[in-house]
Amino acid sequence: MNIDPIDEGFLSHGPVQGGNVLVSRDRVALWWLATECIAPGDWEVLAGLLSPEERTRAARFHFERDRHSYILAHALCRSLLAFCTGRRPCDFSFETGDHGKPEVIAGPGGTRLRINISHTRGMAAAALTVDHDIGVDVEWLDRNVGAIAVAESHFAPCEQAVLAAAPEIRKVATFLAFWTLKEAYVKAIGKGLSQPLQAFSFQLEDCTIRFDDALGDDPALWRFVRPDPGRDHTLALAMRHPHPLTLEICGGPAPLDQVLALAMGGGQMSRR
Ligand SMILES: CC(C)(COP(=O)(O)OP(=O)(O)OC[C@H]1O[C@@H](n2cnc3c(N)ncnc32)[C@H](O)[C@@H]1OP(=O)(O)O)[C@@H](O)C(=O)NCCC(=O)NCCS
Repeated sequence: MNIDPIDEGFLSHGPVQGGNVLVSRDRVALWWLATECIAPGDWEVLAGLLSPEERTRAARFHFERDRHSYILAHALCRSLLAFCTGRRPCDFSFETGDHGKPEVIAGPGGTRLRINISHTRGMAAAALTVDHDIGVDVEWLDRNVGAIAVAESHFAPCEQAVLAAAPEIRKVATFLAFWTLKEAYVKAIGKGLSQPLQAFSFQLEDCTIRFDDALGDDPALWRFVRPDPGRDHTLALAMRHPHPLTLEICGGPAPLDQVLALAMGGGQMSRR
C-alpha cells in the first residue's frame, strides 16, 4: 500500500509538546474514519471541535448522513492539525483561494501547514503536510452507474479504454479508482473541477500520472497512493514534492479515542 500504518509512524508519537511540529516538508499525515465508528452520543462532542461557522454549515445539511460526514471531516481536520502541532483545534483559521481551496492561515514566519479534507457517504479523510501541495479524495463505492457514464465521458481516452475493457463487476471500482486519483490531483493543485479532467491521465497499476503538454506539469514531481480505507470506500492521496519517492507517508484510521479526548478536553490531546 505504500504508506506506513499509524502505529509504526510518527503519528503514534504524539501529541506534541512545546509547539514541536510533527509534520514536515518531507512527511505527510493521513487520517480517515468511517462514520459508523461514532457512537450516537459522540456527534455533539465532535461538533464541538468545529468553528461556529462550520457548525452553522453542518446544521444546513438536509440529510443526517451528509451532516455527519461533514462534521467528521472538519473534526479530523482540526484534530490532525492540533495533534501534529501541539496547538488547540480552535487555533486554526482558513482562507480560500480562487477555486475555493481552504488553506491554513500561517502566522508571521510560521510553518506553512497544508491540509486537505474529503467527505463522502459514510467516511471522511484529512491529509496534512508542510509547504507542498496535497489533495485527498474519498468516495463511497456503491455509486449510481448512470452518473458514472456522464463523468466517464470527461476522462482521458486511455482511461475510457481501460474502463470499457473492465469486466462489468469491476466497472464501478475501476471508475472510482480513476475518479479519486483525478480528484485528489485537482484538489492538490487547488483548481477543483475547473481543471479539465481529460488533460491528464492515470495508470492504475502504479498510480502514475501523465500530463498533456498544455498543462505544463511534471509527473516526476508527483506521488499518488491509494490506501485501502475499508470495504465500502476508496481513497486517493496526491502529493507534490521535489523528490516524491522520499516522502514519508503515515496514515490509517484516525485514533478516535484521542480525537474525542481532545474534543472533551477542549485543548490538549492525552498522551498514549
Ligand atoms: C473541490 C471539489 C473537487 C470537491 O469535490 P467533492 O468530491 O464534492 O468534495 P470532497 O468531499 O472531496 O472535498 C470537499 C472539501 O475540499 C475542499 N475544497 C473545496 N474547494 C477545493 C479546491 N478547489 N481544491 C481543493 N480542495 C477544495 C474543502 O475543504 C471541502 O470541504 P467542505 O466542502 O466541507 O468545506 C469540487 O467541489 C470543486 O471543484 N469545487 C471548486 C468549485 C469552484 O471552482 N468554486 C469557485 C468559487 S469558490
